[in-house]
Amino acid sequence: MSIRYNTGSRTFILETRDSSYLMKISRYGNLLHLYYGDRIPDTDLDYLIQNQDRGFSPNPNEAGNDRAFSLDFLAQEFSTEGKGDYRTPSISVVNGDGSRIFSGKVDGYTIYKGKYSLEGMPSLRAGAKDSVETLEISLRDTESGAEAVLCYSVFEEKNIITRTTRFVNGGSADIRLTKLMSATVDYHVSDYDLVYFAGRHLMEREFTRIPVSRGLHSIGSSRGASSHQYNPFLIVCEKRADEDMGKCYGYSLVYSGNFIIEAEKDQFSRLRINAGINPRGFEFVIGPGEKFQAPEVVMAYSKHGFTGLSHLYHDVYRENLCRSPYAKKARPVLINSWEAAYFDFDDEKLLDIAKDAVGMGVDLFVLDDGWFGKRDDDNSGLGDWTENRKKIKCGLSGLSDRIHELGLQFGIWIEPEMISEDSDLYRAHPDWRLAAAGRPMSRGRNQLVLDLSRADVCDYLIDSINTLLNSAKIEYIKWDMNRSISDVWSALLPAEREGEVFHRYVLGLYRVMDEVILKHPEVLYCGCCGGGGRFDPAMLYYEPQIWCSDNSDAKARLKIQYGTSFAYPVNTLEAHVSVCPNHQTGRTTPLATRGIVAMDGIMGYELDSRKLSKEEKAVCRDQIRFYKRNYKVIAEGDYYRLSSPYENPYYTAWQHVSKDRKRSLVSLVMTDCEGNDAQRYLKLKGLDENAFYRIEGWKGRYSGALLMNAGIPISASLGEYEGVQFCLRKIGA
Ligand code: DGJ
Repeated sequence: MSIRYNTGSRTFILETRDSSYLMKISRYGNLLHLYYGDRIPDTDLDYLIQNQDRGFSPNPNEAGNDRAFSLDFLAQEFSTEGKGDYRTPSISVVNGDGSRIFSGKVDGYTIYKGKYSLEGMPSLRAGAKDSVETLEISLRDTESGAEAVLCYSVFEEKNIITRTTRFVNGGSADIRLTKLMSATVDYHVSDYDLVYFAGRHLMEREFTRIPVSRGLHSIGSSRGASSHQYNPFLIVCEKRADEDMGKCYGYSLVYSGNFIIEAEKDQFSRLRINAGINPRGFEFVIGPGEKFQAPEVVMAYSKHGFTGLSHLYHDVYRENLCRSPYAKKARPVLINSWEAAYFDFDDEKLLDIAKDAVGMGVDLFVLDDGWFGKRDDDNSGLGDWTENRKKIKCGLSGLSDRIHELGLQFGIWIEPEMISEDSDLYRAHPDWRLAAAGRPMSRGRNQLVLDLSRADVCDYLIDSINTLLNSAKIEYIKWDMNRSISDVWSALLPAEREGEVFHRYVLGLYRVMDEVILKHPEVLYCGCCGGGGRFDPAMLYYEPQIWCSDNSDAKARLKIQYGTSFAYPVNTLEAHVSVCPNHQTGRTTPLATRGIVAMDGIMGYELDSRKLSKEEKAVCRDQIRFYKRNYKVIAEGDYYRLSSPYENPYYTAWQHVSKDRKRSLVSLVMTDCEGNDAQRYLKLKGLDENAFYRIEGWKGRYSGALLMNAGIPISASLGEYEGVQFCLRKIGA
């Protein structure tokens, strides 16, 4: 049993294999947070609640003369609003009478086997071997009749607790919901650091670590997608935490739209974490009897540092998130036409690129942007998802057939959420784009965004993409989204509901993906948003892999992939070998190194294969062979970051270890070299210390203990940007 209620101490106890999470119903009915951390046997943690009469901390009416009870300083499971808690709230409402008060008291609870599911929104599911239990606690505001139902699913063996909140209007008047957090966690103390992943287009998910300090710190997006700027993931960790030790708490939001994760250190040095939909631009009118569902937060706790935390997320995201059968299948090695040809191609040129790629050992040819409508640059054509016969003379189906005759699979790029003003779709439906009536609209990449809050627009998309998928043999779809959303206003919603558009857009997108992606499970989908602008668990529910960044430079990718690896497993990020000088940075790195870096993900190529020399093609062929030979350990093994590109200027190294610790692949890229340089040793991780390993190409055998404590010497002859890989195999394996 992973969830219990102790009636004596009025305490809810949630237990995973290694962690405990406790909360308690106060004597006045509020739900107070008690504890989250290492597993403990105790069920009565009352002594942790230290009440005091504090100045300027109001006492709720039900506390009578009890001046020591104030919501201003108590650790709460889900805050009230307007009742004397001045920290950033879990909820904000405007009630029918105009009051902005929500005072939720426990009104009942249920515990059941299995996982809750969210209607219309992605969430984790319990696997056949998972023991999962769910707790739902209802917090009711008697005066308005509103209810916040807090849901917790405990994945016992995986050390994961998922949370969400359901808002129900049980009253008789409309309630305007202006903030609803999926989860709030109040820590009793705040001597922690925050780690999050901030970035920009072409440089996503940079590791960022700051101390918790007084005030409110928030990360989030108001761009309509989860964004390049902040990933919806936060780690709260002990100050001493590093890769190997220290307590770490993770909050990962399964949502692809505007999100917020807040960290507030209050006047009494407590820390509140909130995660959910960004209240900026958000207002939902909830009528009597109606509900609003917040997205899911996946919480993980590990005392084994960042690596321990990453392993929890990697395992649960590999096994319990993605609905595609490809989630557990080996992915093909692809060649993509974008950096090879951009918009400048016809079918013959594409076929020539494909022909040359066959010899390299590639499995799949992907035709990127420019194949449809009138699309010779990025100013027109979006929305017209039929082939441009001037470029694809043999038609999409004909091209697919000819690609298949070469022995390759065939894939295409689409950007369904967008529309160009110069397109037949726009000429037919100018009101389908997001733009406020009577206001000049902003463009991004000279394109507009379709109003996916409208059911008719979503129906059209479902129909047109399904038709496209049925029109040719298409085994792979790259689903792109190339601008931030602005001018949010929907022609179909009344004025008082315009605050619903952003979230309705996301729900519309999920519905389109449900109806297209889940209906065509034979197709492999790759998410993309100008690279990694929508790299989040909700997209990974539909699409098993995401183009990690538009930046394909091997050195830049070391940082981008390092940051991505904290929450997301290697088999979710697509990484390509491209040409040098690199198109984004102008940097030149060896082809071998580009292969090593691309193997830290789902490897592919993005170059004009016709321009490769015979020798270069042979290098690519060897890379693909090597990658395929090591695919299982890369895609299914445990991941270890052996060095940080932010702390170690000389090299970046990482390691994959099979779950049974019999095989391992170690990769290293030199990022800086000095004359007459120091001899460096790379200490490995995750091996069986009592076993002996052989290193491919080396003589002798080495114990796991030796390799982890003394390490492997890094050859002094490795030059800048050169890389090396070591394959280890346990003796007898
Ligand atoms: C942005 C993507 O990230 C690129 O890989 C490419 O597909 C372009 N869009 C095409 O417009």
